[in-house]
Amino acid sequence: MSCSKTFLLLCFLLPFNWCFSQPFNSNNKPQLGTSSIKSIISEMTLEEKIQVVVGAGLDSQASQSDDGIIGDVKGRVQGAAGSTNSLPKYGIPEMILSDGPAGLRIDPIRHNDSINTYYATAWPVGLLLASSWDTTLIASVGKALGNEAKEYGVDVLLAPGMNLIRDPLNGRNFEYYSEDPLLSGFIGAAYVKGVQSNGVGSTIKHFVANNQESNRLNVNVNVSERALRELYLRGFEIAVKQASPLWVMSSYNKVNGTYTPESYDLLTTILRKEWGFKGGVMTDWGGGRNTVEQMRAGNDLIMPGAEFATQTILKAVKNGSLDEKILDENVERILALAVNSLSFKKYNYNNTPDLNGHAVLARKAASEGIVLLKNTNNTLPIVKINKLALFGCASYDTFTGGTGSGEVYSKDNVSIVDGLKNAGFNYDSELELRYDKHITQDKIDFPRPKKTLGKVRITPEIFFSKEQIEEVANNNDIAIFTIGRQIGEGKDVDVEDGFNLNELEKEQIKTIAEIFHAKNKKLVVIINAGGAIETVSWHNSADAILLPWKAGQESGNAIADVLNGLVNPSGKLTVTFPKKYEDVSSSNNFPGTPAKRPKQVNYEEGVYVGYRYFNSFNIEPAYEFGFGLSYTQFEYRHLKLSSKKFKDFISVSITVTNTGHVAGKEVVQLYLSAPAASLDRPEAELKGFAKTALLAPGASQTVTFKLSAKDLASYVTDQSAWIAEAGKYAVKIGASSKDIKQTSQFALKQVLLVEKVNKVLTPQIAISELIHKK
Ligand code: BGC
Repeated sequence: MSCSKTFLLLCFLLPFNWCFSQPFNSNNKPQLGTSSIKSIISEMTLEEKIQVVVGAGLDSQASQSDDGIIGDVKGRVQGAAGSTNSLPKYGIPEMILSDGPAGLRIDPIRHNDSINTYYATAWPVGLLLASSWDTTLIASVGKALGNEAKEYGVDVLLAPGMNLIRDPLNGRNFEYYSEDPLLSGFIGAAYVKGVQSNGVGSTIKHFVANNQESNRLNVNVNVSERALRELYLRGFEIAVKQASPLWVMSSYNKVNGTYTPESYDLLTTILRKEWGFKGGVMTDWGGGRNTVEQMRAGNDLIMPGAEFATQTILKAVKNGSLDEKILDENVERILALAVNSLSFKKYNYNNTPDLNGHAVLARKAASEGIVLLKNTNNTLPIVKINKLALFGCASYDTFTGGTGSGEVYSKDNVSIVDGLKNAGFNYDSELELRYDKHITQDKIDFPRPKKTLGKVRITPEIFFSKEQIEEVANNNDIAIFTIGRQIGEGKDVDVEDGFNLNELEKEQIKTIAEIFHAKNKKLVVIINAGGAIETVSWHNSADAILLPWKAGQESGNAIADVLNGLVNPSGKLTVTFPKKYEDVSSSNNFPGTPAKRPKQVNYEEGVYVGYRYFNSFNIEPAYEFGFGLSYTQFEYRHLKLSSKKFKDFISVSITVTNTGHVAGKEVVQLYLSAPAASLDRPEAELKGFAKTALLAPGASQTVTFKLSAKDLASYVTDQSAWIAEAGKYAVKIGASSKDIKQTSQFALKQVLLVEKVNKVLTPQIAISELIHKK
């Protein structure tokens, strides 16, 4: 009797549910969940295995730009980025993968459903979330965002974006967290934990050194091993070790000559062997060139999947150039994830996540990250003011998120004017009419696509004559001008009329300020951008400057909460605002050469990125890393170290007291200056941070940090090791990277070899790196 006949007979003889709990189904194939994954693989044909490692493909909905594609499929979850293939024979489900960092990117309206809508919450973008420096808050955002994924039937969220912010011109900076790897790592880890608490997989992306959009599909990043280890890899390393994300997405670019999805050194040696990553690696959509190398490198899943990839693998296994055992390993890792997926568990998703509850959290998260950059004579909060004049198109047509795969289709987006109205502010409605007309006309003249990639048209500002502004100033008590910038995937920011303000913007800000100031009235400027912009040419005109980045669907409400003082701002900069673009250490090497479509980009600034550069080389920034004002003041006292000699670790504690008149939260930052006797080290580096609770006036909180040996160490290339030099280490506790409040020291008696790693990802060319000699 054949196996299957015996099985059927047993089914007949034994209790009814016996046959459903057995490792073989009626077609006599081992089943995912009941049979071992190895036994399933041993039963699979070559073609079936390839179906597991190659995604189900894109349909006609893919959005395409010069520099890539973003996924958009019409499957079970319309507008998701892609899916894996199901193999029902083995009980293998399809898994749905969907963007992205600021919220679930799915189609809100489905072509076959005229009754229901599928809106998702547009959360504040990554840069704003990170500006809260609040890992608890970010974990709760991750949890709620992951819950939307779960309730909309999504298995894997393609987020968070964790690339280091190397240069203010990167078009996707808004999706990322910081120029500092420790901060990026901790924020990313909190987000991943929150998302995965739902059983949804989180994907940290884009691994690694995808720090620009210009020719992102092909650019080769030449970067030293040290800069890679200390900066570009470090944030990912922290997230992997702290939060065990289920997925990693390799990037589009090459690093030192190899496409990241084809780099065994990156995906296997570093990610899996050194860091202990246990999940799966997927390509970015259409990333890499050589599918066979991707399999060998340990890039398990080819997304979005195409017939070409299938045929290439098939041919390679058949002609012996790809060992089938390697393919089996890739399959095994994907099946190990599939068996834990919500789809496998047949989770009965309801398509009705708690959007109202999430809106409340989105508003809170946004207001907690808003950074107050300037506040002369307590211009803010706005109290006892009768009427506001709102200038700037973005006051009415606020950019709540960026473009591309990081865009979210939320039901309502609250503009700044609407937020102010909701908060009960009295405002100049004639001015509003004027702007509405202007913006509407511009959109008729230059229709905006529904889904966008890269740069979109920004409505040019209205030119108001001096007389017109005079009249507005007579009728209002304070002016607000919002600077709007919009950019996203596939395109970097231009210096002119991008990073810099255009002439009209500068002229209008200046004239509005002059006229209002002459009447003893003030001007508040709001920066509604996705990355640092130039501020020096106009900041003297502003009495207060507020930076909400792109604050998600609740933008206007969250901004109003800060403007009226309901929320005391506690966000701090996670990136430096340079005085001018040329002050940025990467500015000579961005986006690489040739400038139009760069093939090569050399990271000549080495480890001197962001504040590591500004502070080591004494370049005065406009606003430094870690900076942010509050409506109250804080005093730092009693810095204590657990020991003056380092052994295994050192605990550092400090007491922060609110010495002002309103309740507030403070972001406390720990910087460490290493001895730098034989090693070239930045002046100081962030090694810890903590956000206090809401402290009432007079209240104090003691925060504690723990410094480990790795925090002391630097990567020494010729030894392929993290080494801490012997000598004196200065602990600097500050309210920003420059505003150091208390300092102490400890000593490390002997040089410490903290961690030996593999000599991999070596640059193929000599990179003349910047050196800072003390
Ligand atoms: C982006 C990814 C995104 C993917 C799927 C790509 O173009 O780089 O971040 O997850 O598209 O939409």
